[in-house]
Amino acid sequence: MKILLTGGAGFIGSHTAVELVNNGYSPIILDDFRNSNALIIKNIEKIIGKKVGFYSVDIGNKIKLREIIKKENPIGIIHFAADKSVNESVLNPLKYYKNNISNLVSLLELVSEFNINSFVFSSSCTVYGNPIKIPVKETNETQPAFSPYGYTKKVGERILTDFYATREKSSLTLLRYFNPIGAHPSGLIGELPIGVPSNLLPFITQTAIGKRKKLTIYGNDYETPDGTCIRDYIHVVDLANAHVLSLKFSLEKKNYIKTYNVGMGKGSSVLEVINSFENVNKVAINYDFGARRIGDIPKIFADIDLIKDEMNWFPKFNLENSVEHAWNWEKKLMDFKYIS
Ligand SMILES: NC(=O)c1ccc[n+]([C@@H]2O[C@H](COP(=O)([O-])OP(=O)(O)OC[C@H]3O[C@@H](n4cnc5c(N)ncnc54)[C@H](O)[C@@H]3O)[C@@H](O)[C@H]2O)c1
Repeated sequence: MKILLTGGAGFIGSHTAVELVNNGYSPIILDDFRNSNALIIKNIEKIIGKKVGFYSVDIGNKIKLREIIKKENPIGIIHFAADKSVNESVLNPLKYYKNNISNLVSLLELVSEFNINSFVFSSSCTVYGNPIKIPVKETNETQPAFSPYGYTKKVGERILTDFYATREKSSLTLLRYFNPIGAHPSGLIGELPIGVPSNLLPFITQTAIGKRKKLTIYGNDYETPDGTCIRDYIHVVDLANAHVLSLKFSLEKKNYIKTYNVGMGKGSSVLEVINSFENVNKVAINYDFGARRIGDIPKIFADIDLIKDEMNWFPKFNLENSVEHAWNWEKKLMDFKYIS
């Protein structure tokens, strides 16, 4: 059972490729390495012990994409490919609208042409904005997007919902990720930020290894117990497994459009993550406090009852596992002689 993974060489896509193989599916990865590296494909193959289907392609190249779909005849698509830096999206919005929106529309035209009936989409908790009620449920009102990136996730959800509403015997799953962290327990794949990381954990690991001198925490005067922002951190392998289950359900039961939160269902503050990293890995982090960052909300975490009840999905890893695996990955990157 072939499944197309756009952006499958990325952080979440690569872990999903491995879990798909573990569950009997054949992933076909499409990636142009704009935010990844051939090393990831090599290491996926080390983990699964065989070749993985892979095409080096920009998914905006519709002619090439059509050829691939025709040849591979996938029964489902998991669409990870997108640009994902909030800051960059403010500076270069058209790049985001082109890749995250135009390329999605062009992909859906091919879905229609080849009648591919299962689609899983990488959405984000950014659609909730600064929520009034926490934990956030899927039925919470979404808020106006703060950045062009956030807006592409809201619009992406809407485009897909409108499109799948017109299709019979099809299913669409919108997964709203909270904060994916960690790495594969083997240490062979993990997050590979190009340039300065905008997420917390890669910044912590890069500071710990000496790639960065210092970690600055943006704000310690929020209305949270220790003054730092609270987020819902989910291990990337647990998140990957949510995709496998989404796909399994969508292949079994047709005719639905569903939205699920994927998080731990509890919040951790920035200081709690740093303390956990230091305690588990016995490494001190050089950090200080800076001003709040524009657009950061004080606190958010997910209500995950829906995905638990309907898909029997449960997170298996905790924060300690995540910080251990992320550190293991950062250390192994030295051996891979990977330079970002
Ligand atoms: N990591 C997060 O914190 C987070 C949170 C919520 C949602 N998401 C969404 O999840 C998805 C995957 O995120 P990730 O963290 O794995 O990001 P990532 O950057 O590691 O992975 C995305 C992959 O897509 C590839 N890609 C991008 N545009 C492409 C194109 N036009 N053609 C071919 N390949 C292309 C990149 O090279 C990269 O390998 C994205 O849609 C992102 O917006 C991520």
